[in-house]
Amino acid sequence: EEEEDERIYKRLKEIVATLPTIKGWSSNPMYQYQGFWYSSDLVGVGPLAVHDHFKAHTTDVLLAATPKSGTTWLKSLAFAVMNRKSHPSLDGRQHPLLKFNSHDLVPTLELRLYNNNHNGDRIPNLDILLSPRLLATHMPYTSLPQSVTHSGCRIIYICRNINDTLVSYWHFFNRVRSKNNSSMGPITLEETFEWFCEGKSEYGPLWDQALGYWKGSLDRPQNVLFLKYDDLQEEPVLHLKRMAEFMGCPFSSMEEKEGMVDQIIKLCSFENLSNLAVNKTATNHLGVTYDAYFRQGKVGDSMSYLTSEMMEELHHITEQKLHGSGLTL
Ligand code: A3P
Repeated sequence: EEEEDERIYKRLKEIVATLPTIKGWSSNPMYQYQGFWYSSDLVGVGPLAVHDHFKAHTTDVLLAATPKSGTTWLKSLAFAVMNRKSHPSLDGRQHPLLKFNSHDLVPTLELRLYNNNHNGDRIPNLDILLSPRLLATHMPYTSLPQSVTHSGCRIIYICRNINDTLVSYWHFFNRVRSKNNSSMGPITLEETFEWFCEGKSEYGPLWDQALGYWKGSLDRPQNVLFLKYDDLQEEPVLHLKRMAEFMGCPFSSMEEKEGMVDQIIKLCSFENLSNLAVNKTATNHLGVTYDAYFRQGKVGDSMSYLTSEMMEELHHITEQKLHGSGLTL
């Protein structure tokens, strides 16, 4: 089996070597797979391995996100909702979210599990995980394996207003870049802006990624729940309840009366999570301290960074790209 996995990864690396590439934010180029851009530094050949080898189960809940749009938050909320029966005392010291970052509790398929930079060229055996499995991805809807649609598993997708996503992206990838290769200076906001607008961001073009899930949510509303970071900030109770219902574990009236919804929101709040020791000091598989995932956590922070011309241009591109879809970003 080991040899078979090595053969599979060898073949995927050969395929990646034939794909179009561009210079990205790290020292290695980004490659284009099925219309989207990926850094090999970040994912290796993970997206291809997920596409070819991940087998979804009917009971899976897959958390999908545009990078920097609230993945860490969504993972925390979904984990807390799904596991509330086994960890009912949310404010006690025992809750896993108080000891582990949500990225360690809800692994991302192509970044961790199928990424050959980390898995020693072994296809992970995810069948051993208990059902329902809670997994995550940043891959576009259109690149997910057929078993995702065929199994009828559930997907919760999150995106965020484009200005804040871009600024968050800029801060974050400068952190990763300084960690990975200290000889490379920081990337300017202008440079990031240009790549972003051209669709050459990690898992970009962002608009296409969001549109894929948007269409999925319209075609298959029972299977794809489309959320926005900004809405979650504004009405957390409403959206957490929607999430729980969608996941097949709605809050009972008893739970609501006992304040379970508010407790989960509080447990997963930026203030709470960002102040935990684990999120201040522990590092992830990229060697980046988890505090990089908790910067401001505010809506509209990009106003302090982007010029009005930049916002104008982003707005213009967004309008063009999403025209007629009913989606706004
Ligand atoms: P900012 O950089 O604007 O602060 P991702 O998790 O997809 O990488 O997204 C990171 C963004 O989500 C960061 O945005 C981060 O601060 C914010 N974030 C992380 N945890 C959060 C939480 N519990 N509540 C609200 N926002 C959170």
